[in-house]
Amino acid sequence: MRAAGVVVVLAMIAGSSCQADECQSFSASTMKANGTVAAAKWRVDYPPVRPNPNDPQPWESVDFRTKPADYMNAVLNTAKTSFKIADRRLVGTGQEEWWISQWLDYGNSGREPLMGLTKERGPDPGDLSKTNTRGSQVWAVGFYNKPGAAVFGEVFAEPCNPSFPVAMKFPNDTVSVKFLFTDASPDEVAYLQGAPEYDAFIDNLGAGSGGQDPSTRTIRSVRLLQVDISVKDSAKTGRSLDTGWVFGTFVWRGPAKGDALFDNLVPVSLQWGNDPGVYDGAIRESWINPDLRNVTYGWDQRLTMGFMGRANGPADNIRSSCLSCHSAARTPRASIGLLDNRFNMDDVANPAKVKAHIDTWFQNIKGSQLFQPSEPAASTLDYSLQLEAAAFRICLACQAGDLRGPTPTLCRSSGFYNRPVCNAPLEASVRKRLLDLVPPPRQ
Ligand code: HEC
Repeated sequence: MRAAGVVVVLAMIAGSSCQADECQSFSASTMKANGTVAAAKWRVDYPPVRPNPNDPQPWESVDFRTKPADYMNAVLNTAKTSFKIADRRLVGTGQEEWWISQWLDYGNSGREPLMGLTKERGPDPGDLSKTNTRGSQVWAVGFYNKPGAAVFGEVFAEPCNPSFPVAMKFPNDTVSVKFLFTDASPDEVAYLQGAPEYDAFIDNLGAGSGGQDPSTRTIRSVRLLQVDISVKDSAKTGRSLDTGWVFGTFVWRGPAKGDALFDNLVPVSLQWGNDPGVYDGAIRESWINPDLRNVTYGWDQRLTMGFMGRANGPADNIRSSCLSCHSAARTPRASIGLLDNRFNMDDVANPAKVKAHIDTWFQNIKGSQLFQPSEPAASTLDYSLQLEAAAFRICLACQAGDLRGPTPTLCRSSGFYNRPVCNAPLEASVRKRLLDLVPPPRQ
């Protein structure tokens, strides 16, 4: 009896403190960077079974169309007791029911060790605030709750050979929450004044977008900027039936109060559809918090959060919206990418250009439907861009000689890498050129 008890306790401790990298034949995890800092301990011991999809959830009684802020807070509340600030880091309780994705700890934007952050798109001048200049960085860590993490358990049952179904489908009640940090100065971004500082092992000051060689990273201060949520909320009539998902975001707004983490988060926007065919800005499937006019939007470079009034966050590209980018989740990615960054915002007054942009990027796509169906894909990913990034990185690691052994099945079916065995380690300059080619995950 006693021995069995000890085994159970040890298994629990081991389970809740795994490395992000679980694949033994992979040795290039960016979480292990130079071994000088202790790595974040996020959970990858995914739940073995999917919870009952009929379990009641606190947000289900709230109508997101009429009470968007209440809905968002009900979702965020489910994460509140799981995360806190300790020693200038965001940490979990150890028992938090939130799990990270495997395979994001590779390449130039791969997870840094201190908080497990991946590098995101760096904001353009005027994105975060009227006065933010060029060069700031954004780094983020995202989690899935139990229903979502159970899917990750199925996908990564064999960590060196993940199994991607043709049509990924997250169960109802799946929630993802993502914390985005920035090194932008509060002198430039007024709502960050008074924000607690966190340590992250990131690129040098002024690096902006685009991943750099991880060996050049150093420990620097960042502040929490934005918290994203996504919810699979499609089971009942009146919920999000066009896309299956509801996406929303909060901004950290000073001065600091309460726990200086959740207590400072203010809802920015919520979205349950892309408003396809709406070319005049009369948006019905997004909500934007009017209190944040002149705080997170409302100046020349950023008149709106997302494209023509659709939802997006401060760190996001005004040419896009949450659901627009995420509806493009598939592997391999479509050749047109996740958004058209070339759209010139001066053209919002040009009806033909606006129509072309909206008709391509702002459809209401169901999770199992393929974005750009004229190009075949190995798998549609039900709005999960982390799964997309994970699929990409494992195949890149195989090609770049950082993953040894048989080529993951996925990499052959997606056409990424077709040889039966992963490359032998490449010459350093060849490997670097390959890794430098990779576009930042969030343009
Ligand atoms: C320009 C494209 C783009 C836009 C716009 C965008 N995202 Fe994402 N998002 C990504 C990418 C790429 C990832 C995965 C890589 C990562 O986490 O770094 C991601 C990851 C996430 C995740 C983690 C789970 C997942 O689906 O992979 C959440 C939650 C999320 N985004 C929410 C949002 C919300 C809410 C908005 C709008 C406020 C938004 N995103 C806007 C590109 C985008």
